Amino acid sequence: MKLLITGATGLVGKELVKKALEQGMIIHYLTTHKSKTKTIIGARGFYWNPSSQEIDSSCFEGVDVIVHLAGATISKRWTAAYKKIILASRVDSTRLLENALKKTKGKNRVKQIIGASALGIYSNDFKNIVTEETEVSSNSFLERVVIDWEAATAVFKTMNIKVTTLRIGLVIAVNGGVVAAMKTPILFGLGAAFGNGSQGQSWIHIKDLVGIILFSVTTKLEGIYNAVAPNPVSQTHFITALAKAINRPHILPPLPEFIIQLMVGEMSSLLLDSHWVSSKKIEGQGFSFQYPEINTAFKELFKKSMV
Ligand SMILES: NC(=O)c1ccc[n+]([C@@H]2O[C@H](COP(=O)([O-])OP(=O)(O)OC[C@H]3O[C@@H](n4cnc5c(N)ncnc54)[C@H](OP(=O)(O)O)[C@@H]3O)[C@@H](O)[C@H]2O)c1
Repeated sequence: MKLLITGATGLVGKELVKKALEQGMIIHYLTTHKSKTKTIIGARGFYWNPSSQEIDSSCFEGVDVIVHLAGATISKRWTAAYKKIILASRVDSTRLLENALKKTKGKNRVKQIIGASALGIYSNDFKNIVTEETEVSSNSFLERVVIDWEAATAVFKTMNIKVTTLRIGLVIAVNGGVVAAMKTPILFGLGAAFGNGSQGQSWIHIKDLVGIILFSVTTKLEGIYNAVAPNPVSQTHFITALAKAINRPHILPPLPEFIIQLMVGEMSSLLLDSHWVSSKKIEGQGFSFQYPEINTAFKELFKKSMV
């Protein structure tokens, strides 16, 4: 099995490459940095540039499945210019893959694309559990981005390629993402939830996310799936569990919503919005989570680390 992975140099991509190589898969990857085309040992890197629609199309040679994870981080100040980058890095990169594959005129063996998506597609909801069937609408910037991103991936169906869309939750990993961002204030005794702290956090352990991606490959899964652990928790619960796992059990009272809004404006939705998301659909396909509970998930993350 040969995979072409975009975003292979990122948090999720690195873990995916490691696991896929362990399983004997052959890995090609696309990177926007020429300097990174040789940095992943055991895999073959190719350069692409979605903004100029440039791609080394030999990246598709012998590839069975594309795993498309690339996307500029959303954790950087949302200026008007940066918002364009957030969207373009997802939509233009997907279109570049589509156009480049079309140019091979059938001379490729790609049968499936697994596209990253995000819970940001769901509206802020403090009460209801959302499923893949929940209606989505373009009310906010993030909702619009994710709707367009999923639509760009869905186009591959018209090319007779199976499309798997994974709506990824907050990925918990020891060296990056939300855990790295929250850990520092907690270590200095300044850990706190935001708003009233009751917002739902639908998280997933990085090993389970990689497990879902590889499960999607081996079972040729098609359709939209939430990639979240079965037990979402409130933000206060999430931070308390993280603080406990790194032996700093004391957290401060939540920071009021208006302060967050003053500090980061529209981007405050990342900290304040609530998503209680169901994992039942992927479980119904036979996927079984290694880390369904937040405490055991954090415990595993920090078992070797010195924090
Ligand atoms: N981590 C989470 O909690 C989370 C939650 C929901 C959804 N997701 C989605 O899952 C995917 C993977 O997440 P991650 O945490 O692994 O992300 P990450 O660590 O930020 O890595 C994303 C990768 O995308 C590539 N990239 C960055 N800017 C780009 C641009 N302007 N154009 C094209 N490619 C660009 C980079 O690869 P090169 O430098 O090699 O080009 C980077 O390694 C992302 O699409 C993210 O939005 C993540």
